[in-house]
Amino acid sequence: MSRKIVVTSALPYANGPIHIGHLVEYLQTDIWVRFHKACGNKCLYFCADDTHGTPIMISAKKEGISPEQLINRVHAEHLGDFKNFHIEFDNYYSTHSEENRQFSELIYNRLNEKGSIVKREIEQTYCPSCNMFLPDRFIRGTCPKCKSENQYGDSCDSCGAAYQPTELINPACATCGAAPTRKTSIHYFFKLTDYQKQLKDIISAGYTGKSVSNKLDEWFGAGLKDWDISRDGPYFGFKIPGEENKFFYVWLDAPIGYMASCKNYCDKSGLDFDTVWNSGEYELYHFIGKDIMYFHALFWPAMLTGAGFKVAKKLFVHGFLTVNGEKMSKSKGTFIKASTYANHLDPEHLRYYYASKLTEGVDDLDLNLDDFSAKINSDLVGKLANLASRSVPMLTSKLDGKLGTIDQGGRELLNQLTIAKEAIINDYENLNFASMIRQVAALADIANKYVEQNQPWTLIKTDAEKTRTVLTVIINAARILTVYLKPVLPIFSQKIEKILNIAPLTFADTDKVLEEHKINEYIRLAERVEKDKVNAMLEESKPIESPAAAETTTQLDEPIAAECTIEDFTKVDLRVAKVVKAEAVEGADKLLHLELDIGGITKNVFAGISKAYKPAQLVGRLVICVANLKPRKMKFGVSEGMVCAAGPGGAEIFMLNIDDGAKSGQRIH
Ligand code: MSP
Ligand code: ZN
Repeated sequence: MSRKIVVTSALPYANGPIHIGHLVEYLQTDIWVRFHKACGNKCLYFCADDTHGTPIMISAKKEGISPEQLINRVHAEHLGDFKNFHIEFDNYYSTHSEENRQFSELIYNRLNEKGSIVKREIEQTYCPSCNMFLPDRFIRGTCPKCKSENQYGDSCDSCGAAYQPTELINPACATCGAAPTRKTSIHYFFKLTDYQKQLKDIISAGYTGKSVSNKLDEWFGAGLKDWDISRDGPYFGFKIPGEENKFFYVWLDAPIGYMASCKNYCDKSGLDFDTVWNSGEYELYHFIGKDIMYFHALFWPAMLTGAGFKVAKKLFVHGFLTVNGEKMSKSKGTFIKASTYANHLDPEHLRYYYASKLTEGVDDLDLNLDDFSAKINSDLVGKLANLASRSVPMLTSKLDGKLGTIDQGGRELLNQLTIAKEAIINDYENLNFASMIRQVAALADIANKYVEQNQPWTLIKTDAEKTRTVLTVIINAARILTVYLKPVLPIFSQKIEKILNIAPLTFADTDKVLEEHKINEYIRLAERVEKDKVNAMLEESKPIESPAAAETTTQLDEPIAAECTIEDFTKVDLRVAKVVKAEAVEGADKLLHLELDIGGITKNVFAGISKAYKPAQLVGRLVICVANLKPRKMKFGVSEGMVCAAGPGGAEIFMLNIDDGAKSGQRIH
């Protein structure tokens, strides 16, 4: 009986790139989804970008673009990263969508009608200069405990203390630096406390695993609190129905984004949303990291229950990624973006390594880069690819690429491999990927031992047909192990399918043998991990430290001037000019007298650059000159043009460079 399954991963925030920490989650989920598909189940995988909230609004503002522009750009980047890592969503949508607005209003209205929403007045930190309420993370100040400066409004990075923003010494708005005030406002609260009993029932029915339900017991023990679901404008999000300047808090509409993505998919593919999302016909599962348990184990099931929607069958929670035993760190180069990894290493290798570390528990998992190289080189290259590389080329070059039949000894070997199928399927289903990988690696050892014992490279010299039998056994062993690893290694598997000249493999294929069959030429399956590639990846992940480079990213020291039209701009005739002569001007300590050649015309220019350049540094250089500037009479002579430079003045003036090959007199467009 095939099953129908809907799966979600947490929605990544739309203000930053996907990094290898996120990938723990998307790879864990993708492997599980591919496993179900390979079992012949109907499985739909939904995700989206989480686009609302203050941080996204402020990031956009800093970049000088609209939040919509920011989230559109990041959406495209995220899609590229997921594609690189072979993460295949059935739909990847956005919380900034009409479907999400409608579901958010629907759920809110239903909760409101039920009496689960209340209004209360609260006092909060407010920036009078930005005209907005400040989330804790947007307030900076001195830690009240250890007196470290420049700490967040909720906790200190230096001593770890947690406190209220009102306790900070010298608090300041993180955006503009102004001293914040306190201001009251009406907020909407979701009465989570009303759902305590229902939540306990949901959890005892098996919604969460053991370690998560222990954590939940702690939270129940401490007592649930009502949840503030509104934010005052300016805020990038959905307006609360009936309000002008109040918005849903991002975490209200974020999980509803799972539904929006599903609805958008159903509409595109002619499926009935209510059946897919809300009926018993489909099993629903959520995958998340341990940091967002509170939202998914309490708020979300309570919201769904209150609004009359089904709650997921299970919430799968994974731990956090560490690299070389420590938290990901920018300065050590271990805060690695998905795109940076893919620039240097094979994404399938990370899929294999994560699978080899993932269990059903919430324990953190470590990416140890030496262990990573060793495991890929020994397991993937040394054991798995080895089976095919030692059999396929010999069969195609010496035996017409035709498989023979399997003998008794071969059948015994293959039985050992197929007998493990049930345990492997169980491990996949229960998210014990580490155990699955260990089993497959052990089976690969057995198969490699068969290769050693039968020595086809020696046998071929004396008995071609016996060799054909041996190679047929080895190739079938490789095929069975490929079935087992297909959810983890989709590209490796595709190559094997191509080599073996067979249809896409599924778990049903382990019960068959491939005999008397023509295969194709060998293709390289996996490359070794090289140390210098790993190092290059770490280097690329380190922040750029040179002060000059940092300078280029600091804030503008002068505001951008009023707009000019293209017509205004073309009035300025910019030309490439060659400095023919440069000399100090007696009696003027800042000026240099330059003689410029502009395509045969000579211009005299007095420029205030003598603190930045010595005359000899300039002679022969190509510079940019405003050629049609109205001549100006100065104390020391007439200046007939102007050279272009950047910088505030004094010694910090930088002449603009022209690339080699330009000729004096050429117009600059
Ligand atoms: N936007 C929220 C989720 C909303 S779901 C309705 C969010 N986004 S996130 O980008 O910060 O994280 C997305 C997922 O990646 C979360 O499940 C989070 O736990 C996971 N991870 C982020 N960093 C991680 C590690 N370093 N290690 C493992 N998982 C991590 O939270
Ligand atoms: Zn401010």
